[in-house]
Amino acid sequence: MSDIKVLGICGSLRKGSFNAMALRAAQGQIPAGMKIDIADISAFPLYNEDVRAQGFPAAVQAFRDQIAAADALLFVTPEYNYSVPGVLKNAIDWASRPPNHPFDGKPVAIMGASGGVLGTARAQYHLRQICVFLNMFPVNKPEVMIPQAQTRFDAEGRLTDETAKGLIKQLLESLQAWTLRLKPKA
Ligand SMILES: Cc1cc2nc3c(=O)[nH]c(=O)nc-3n(C[C@H](O)[C@H](O)[C@H](O)COP(=O)(O)O)c2cc1C
Repeated sequence: MSDIKVLGICGSLRKGSFNAMALRAAQGQIPAGMKIDIADISAFPLYNEDVRAQGFPAAVQAFRDQIAAADALLFVTPEYNYSVPGVLKNAIDWASRPPNHPFDGKPVAIMGASGGVLGTARAQYHLRQICVFLNMFPVNKPEVMIPQAQTRFDAEGRLTDETAKGLIKQLLESLQAWTLRLKPKA
């Protein structure tokens, strides 16, 4: 059986992003039979229906194609003002437009790291609400919320929190099982 292809989508664009570090940590925790590629949403313009009417910008089209080709998605996002960061919402808004929006039916896992004590809980629940409209199917458990992110990574950007590492591993195992369960029978 071929590997389950996961597309990792990070909700932060900054170079020293803890969420980008967490996504790289996830690449180090993948179970056998799964691989994670990372999407680049840094060059997306702000969503504008007039622009879309001329066709999707190249970076957006590439993202849509990557989503369509993926078996599952892994969102790794900070929390901004108790919600999903604008850059992530903008990327989702672009990719969600017809025809054939590629999110439809995708298995999804969600995790995040924030400076606060709730570790992106509120942003994650907003993201789950977005999944309802787009007909994506998020794994329920475990919830991976990395609080006080500034204390969880070393100077090289490696995740040092063993509890978080274990939860990420469990989340990926759940995503793998969930993806196989949702996969249309051949
Ligand atoms: C605009 C903005 C809003 C923020 N709002 C929250 C928030 O609601 N909850 C929280 O825990 N942290 C909040 N933070 C702090 C982020 O958790 C922190 O900057 C985190 O490192 C961002 O993730 P990153 O390192 O992946 O860029 C906010 C930061 C910014 C820039």
